Amino acid sequence: MLTNTSRKIFLSIFLVALAALAPLQTAAADFKREVIYQIITDRFFDGSTSNNNPSQSSGLYDSTKTNWRAYWGGDLAGIQQKMSYLAGLGVTAIWISPPVDNLNTNIPDGNGNPTAPYHGYQGRDFKRVEEHFGNTSNTWTDFDNLVTAAHSNGIKVIIDFAPNHTTQDNAGEFGAFYDNGTFVGNYTNDTNGYFHHNGNISNWDDRYQVQYYALFDLSDLNQEHATVDGYLKAAAQLFQQHGVDGFRIDAVKHVTWGWEYSLANSIYTNGDSFLFGEWYQGNTSDPLYHDSYKFANRSGISLLDFPLNAAIRNVFASNANFSDIDTVISTEGNNFTWKEDLVTFIDNHDMSRFLSANNNQNRLHEALAFILTARGIPCIYYGTEQYLHNDTSGGTDPYNRPMMNSFSTSTTAYTLTSRLSTLRRSNPAVPYGSMSQRWINSDVYIYERKFYGSVVLVAINKNETTAYNITGLNTSLPAGTYSDYLTALLGGSSITVSSGTGGNNPVTAFSLPAHTVAVWQFTESSATPQVGSIGPTAAQPGVKVTIGGRNFGATQGSGSVKFGTTTATIVSWSDTQIVATTPSVSNGSYNVTVTKNGGAVSNGIQFTALTAKLIPVTFTVYNASPTQVGDYIFLTGNTVELGNWATTWDGAVGPMLAPNYPNWFINASVPAGQTIQFKFIKIASNGSVTWEAGANHTYTVPTTGTGFVNVNWQY
Ligand code: NOJ
Ligand code: NOJ
Repeated sequence: MLTNTSRKIFLSIFLVALAALAPLQTAAADFKREVIYQIITDRFFDGSTSNNNPSQSSGLYDSTKTNWRAYWGGDLAGIQQKMSYLAGLGVTAIWISPPVDNLNTNIPDGNGNPTAPYHGYQGRDFKRVEEHFGNTSNTWTDFDNLVTAAHSNGIKVIIDFAPNHTTQDNAGEFGAFYDNGTFVGNYTNDTNGYFHHNGNISNWDDRYQVQYYALFDLSDLNQEHATVDGYLKAAAQLFQQHGVDGFRIDAVKHVTWGWEYSLANSIYTNGDSFLFGEWYQGNTSDPLYHDSYKFANRSGISLLDFPLNAAIRNVFASNANFSDIDTVISTEGNNFTWKEDLVTFIDNHDMSRFLSANNNQNRLHEALAFILTARGIPCIYYGTEQYLHNDTSGGTDPYNRPMMNSFSTSTTAYTLTSRLSTLRRSNPAVPYGSMSQRWINSDVYIYERKFYGSVVLVAINKNETTAYNITGLNTSLPAGTYSDYLTALLGGSSITVSSGTGGNNPVTAFSLPAHTVAVWQFTESSATPQVGSIGPTAAQPGVKVTIGGRNFGATQGSGSVKFGTTTATIVSWSDTQIVATTPSVSNGSYNVTVTKNGGAVSNGIQFTALTAKLIPVTFTVYNASPTQVGDYIFLTGNTVELGNWATTWDGAVGPMLAPNYPNWFINASVPAGQTIQFKFIKIASNGSVTWEAGANHTYTVPTTGTGFVNVNWQY
């Protein structure tokens, strides 16, 4: 018999040994080296039959899997059981359906068939786990087991988090929501104002409507209410306590934008995380495209790359010219500060699967190789590696969510993903490098990723029958012969590079066969510290920040991290990742640098030091300066959160919203407990700026909850 103490000692030795065996767990705030896999939990694998038809929501399960809008049995235990399959695929993060307790009642469709929130987007209790995914008592056991299994396989866990709404507002449970089992409120008898009651969005380009109207009859939460604000932030933090590494934020375009900055800040203040949001848009000419990149550049929430997704589908599925992709890459490259954090994808649960759009596996392989090597963090929709698709009604929702029907580890797509995931970890040009086009025609795209001296050159020929002779190609790869990193998996062969000048080394002419992808790479051996990533990109003093890159040295020694000229306290240090605490610097923009033991200093990377933790405050200005179509009122003020008196579209806070013209309002996240100074300005369509007169307004931001401030425009 072991005594209690010896049992504890034995256990801790065992745990230390386990930790040594487990893959290195890197910080989530440096996500660029990850490969994400998107799972619709209900449709992946049924790991436990005990939760298939729980009593509190019985009748929503279809064992025949013929009602596409019912639960089919997939669950968290099922994902856990497939962890080694995922690890072998090269997946290093899973994004799972919203796991929170969802609507229990059946809302029949037009033909009287049951419909169920098998997708997870009708949350009723954000602090409990859905009974179809976990257990019939809605506890955390299965969720915790999944997270533990994922982490011990080197896989991070991202949950889909939907703060925009609860359940449907006109049927079922009428938006009722609960705080760990205690009723909070509902949509129909909303005496506390927890919801917006403005009807459904009809104009998807109207900034007020998209944020303050309902998304398809879903009860639209009012995040400016302190109870709702506190509830959602506490729920996100609860998931962090349960080990979650990141959040895919549902419908970010439809949640109050300013409030989301404070959501991100509360998550980052609580712990290491990576956040990306769903901002649906068809292309970079979308009327709200500018709002989308301003949001990504300032909120700390990266975005799913919808414009690139559309171009990928145009080019690979619909055979458009490669210039479609090249144009999006360069446009977004100019607009997004953190473009390498954009999450790229071929398809998802809201559009037809690639093979439904074009049942051509060569093209799917080409698209897959593209997202795995282009800039951005690749996200693969479950089943892509098994060529899963159902083409009913064109294969759109719900037919894009079939049950996973095969777990083969020998498909070409499986091997391809695994191989390129390895490259992302070994060559820093993939996660951190610039992306430039080196050779293009309608069928061929040759692009280069480059991070200091490390280079990856990728050539794709999407033509099904024609080989192209590639002449006049230049690269930054050093002179030498390079074999295809994919070892001819997609038809590639080797190239020879000779010395040129100015980073343009000529590649000996070669033939690129039909439907081929080739990857050539060089990882420089250098001792200089090179910084490629920082996350979060904005935080107040005291919050941990992760710096990713290489050659930092295995140990800190005399090394340091500086924010401008101020040295930060180090939390952890490895050759490729450092965690430091944001020092007490005044608010503003800083270059963060790594000095390695021995004195070599890295490049600087941009970071915003916030003044304090963020509180969402709704600013209203009555009777503002007269405006004409195209003119907008903005908010500006004396801290970095308020733009430091900036007077530009990108620098100031806004544009503000005017549902009750000429009164304008905006919700903005501002530093807790600070007395801020601010003013309103008009930015006319031609860019000219009109300040309101008089002294600056002042306001003391509350230290918790939400705030409201109303003033008259000063003439
Ligand atoms: C976007 C999600 O991706 C979609 O599947 C869902 O129905 C809506 N948001 C509402 O949550
Ligand atoms: C310049 C503006 O002209 C003025 O109105 C404003 O009060 C200050 N910036 C901020 O101190």
